[in-house]
Amino acid sequence: MRNTIVLATGRRELGAAGLRGRPFPPPTVEPDPGNAGGGSDQTRIDGHNRQQPPNESRRSSPALIRGKRHNSSDALVIGGGLIGLSAAWRLAQSGVRTTLLERERIGAGASGVAAGMLAPVTELDYAETRALAARLAALDRWPAFAAELAAHGCEPGLLRCGSVLCAVEPDDLGELRRLRDLQRSLGVEVEWLDRRALRAHEPALGPRALAGLWVASEGAVDPRATLAALAVAARRAGAAVIENCPVVRLERTRGAIVGVHCADGRSFGGDLVVLAAGAWSRELARSLGIEIAVRPVKGQLLVLGPNRGRAELPTHVVRTLRVYCVPRRDGRMVVGATVEERGFDRAVTAGAVRSLLDEAWTVVPGIEEAELLEVLAGHRPATPDNEPLLGFDPEIENLLWATGHWRNGVLWVPLAGEAVVSLVYGREPPVELVPFDPRRLRSPELSARGSGRGADAKSTGVR
Ligand code: GLY
Repeated sequence: MRNTIVLATGRRELGAAGLRGRPFPPPTVEPDPGNAGGGSDQTRIDGHNRQQPPNESRRSSPALIRGKRHNSSDALVIGGGLIGLSAAWRLAQSGVRTTLLERERIGAGASGVAAGMLAPVTELDYAETRALAARLAALDRWPAFAAELAAHGCEPGLLRCGSVLCAVEPDDLGELRRLRDLQRSLGVEVEWLDRRALRAHEPALGPRALAGLWVASEGAVDPRATLAALAVAARRAGAAVIENCPVVRLERTRGAIVGVHCADGRSFGGDLVVLAAGAWSRELARSLGIEIAVRPVKGQLLVLGPNRGRAELPTHVVRTLRVYCVPRRDGRMVVGATVEERGFDRAVTAGAVRSLLDEAWTVVPGIEEAELLEVLAGHRPATPDNEPLLGFDPEIENLLWATGHWRNGVLWVPLAGEAVVSLVYGREPPVELVPFDPRRLRSPELSARGSGRGADAKSTGVR
């Protein structure tokens, strides 16, 4: 644990106080109070709900609060997806005056499209084992995190249902055995189910399911419900959440960001900028003269409904090596997802619908009777090593990266907010953050790879 020393020299010495950040000049244009914050029962001043955080929290952030000038924030969070909202909520709760800027509506990016699997084990690939501890820690946090959100009257729809990875082709059996061996070698509990045990466990599985790996600890949440819950929680904690405010440029003077400029001419100031813009992070980084290896990888998904109970849909997460089916509490089911290197293309395609339905039907034939409710496309923020950027920038002292969560963004939500707060206060992080250090993606070679394929990405396909 680092010691915190409050400097009383009249000027903030960054880093030395165990706190990171640099005061910005005040914004050139006042944030529009009508477009900020959400709690109608609280007085809003310059976009912030002035609900005092508990004394305990406020006491713990002396240097960030000290010397605060009107109209600037302690922290600006860029990106109103799940990661940005989690960071904004936790920062605001800790007593940091926080403003979140979202380019469209909350959850308009990957978060509003995500299937919501909490799957650190079944999403694990051979190249990703260094991050397993963090992913398992994120999973552990979900029940308490969901309960905390539910206390705000917003239910994130957590299902602790477990997941089963099925072999449907004879060739899949070998791959499943290899995955089981990998998982067990990492100390993860998984159970091998033969055909009979599998069908007894999940009656919605069809006869093509040959065997499966059962992971009891996994589950799912409803990402849209979680987004709504986080937006309420963040606003109640005092954060200003401003939608339809695309950031177009970050302005720096050598080692610090000194302005955040939006498309409508507004500019914002803050001591700290948390960049949580997902697949859009790269463009923003370029305005700072930084090339980071984060790229969009398109995913298409379907939402099915039970059609007055006639379709037998699974109550567990069911996946094969080519598709996943994720139940919702209300009986709907998400089928995903394509993995497509097509930049920011948003089209939903007939081919994707056909492949997803074919693959899902193979393992869950009951979808025949399901209603097709939605076809969605989103953009995962991918990195060359499939791990996020979570940490302070090596060059820009008041820039904190929280982006690039690839296929695990929903899983990371409770941990990401906690990690951001620990970094800001210079506290011991909740997990080892070295594998997520933004420095690793700054070599020219890796930056160049950012425009290409990641370790796991296929040019197109379903999984
Ligand atoms: N986490 C599932 C996906 O990215 O498709």
